[in-house]
Amino acid sequence: MKTTLSVIKADIGSIAGHIRPSQALIDSVRGCIEKEAGKLVIDYYIGSTGDDVAILFCHDQGVGCRDLHQLAWDAFLKGTEKAKEQGLYGAGQDLLADAFSGNVKGLGPAVAEMEFEERPAEPFLLFTADKTDPGAYNLPIYLGFADPMHCSGLILSPKISKGFKFVILDVAFTEADRMIELHTPEDTYYIAALLRDNERFVVSAIYSRATEEQAAVASTTRLHNIAGKYTGKDDPVLLVRCQGDFPATGEILSPYSIGHLVAGFMRGSHTGPLMPVLMGSGISYFDGPPVVSAVGFCVHNGKLTEPVDCFDHPYWDYVRTKVSKKAFDIREQGFSGPAMLHYSELEYGGIVNMMEELEERFHS
Ligand code: F6R
Ligand code: MG
Ligand code: MG
Repeated sequence: MKTTLSVIKADIGSIAGHIRPSQALIDSVRGCIEKEAGKLVIDYYIGSTGDDVAILFCHDQGVGCRDLHQLAWDAFLKGTEKAKEQGLYGAGQDLLADAFSGNVKGLGPAVAEMEFEERPAEPFLLFTADKTDPGAYNLPIYLGFADPMHCSGLILSPKISKGFKFVILDVAFTEADRMIELHTPEDTYYIAALLRDNERFVVSAIYSRATEEQAAVASTTRLHNIAGKYTGKDDPVLLVRCQGDFPATGEILSPYSIGHLVAGFMRGSHTGPLMPVLMGSGISYFDGPPVVSAVGFCVHNGKLTEPVDCFDHPYWDYVRTKVSKKAFDIREQGFSGPAMLHYSELEYGGIVNMMEELEERFHS
């Protein structure tokens, strides 16, 4: 059976700032989706990470299904109504268009979808990140699929050692999709050369070279590149199929031990380490740190098992402590140098305005 996984995620309002959506908001989103269960939608999961609500749909309608996108849009509108009713902060923040126009991509929500023939056992992971942008997944995807230091299958499993095809998008090019397909192992250095630039080049999909099956899909929208100004960080989502011809679940999770530095954090304008957190975690210190959660499932005939929280384990407590220390260290240097993002990446125009004002006060 061909199954489609579609994850659509948005910030439509949260409690106490950009911290966490209310239970009532999540319930109103759920109420909308529930009605379609067993009809358009075979199964679904709703969860939150930081201030974002993610809806995972299992269905058989293929990617970009208009009715499904409409359903997600309507559910987020319902959630926004609840957010307004409760006086939540940033109600409807990520719904940038006045009306739905066929696909939520480019309208604010983050979207990642893939269709595949189900294997007899179909384990996969759903990653949702907050207070960061799509480039945050570049390093963990690269390490999980191309580096035997994390993916031991690259040297242990003949199928996996055939390598993977990386589809990488140039998100600075806004007139159309501009992408490149590169193959591991022979293109590894090219892939690294692109992926070091998290704000410009973003992994959009991965395919097995042994079977040509799709292994992963990520959201790639950078709204400020489309709208010309920031409307919030494009907190990204990622789906990864695991085991068999793909890396094992633990190999995909392994790079999140690093707590690598990403763009985001306070006011979407700083650099901070990506912390692996429990599903449903809120946000705290300096509106951060940037967080990612990983929820594991098996899907069978379009039906999901219960979710497993992959970062809910004593090992990740140690990682979280280590990442907290990294967050503390970079925050000690406040606005200085790499602690803050480049002008073009700042979520606010304040500094650019200040520079313009100061221009006339410079003299020789
Ligand atoms: C991302 C996030 C931040 C805010 C940013 C703007 O989830 O919450 O990137 O978008 O801090 O906040 P306001 O709207 O308060 O200026
Ligand atoms: Mg937000
Ligand atoms: Mg968010």
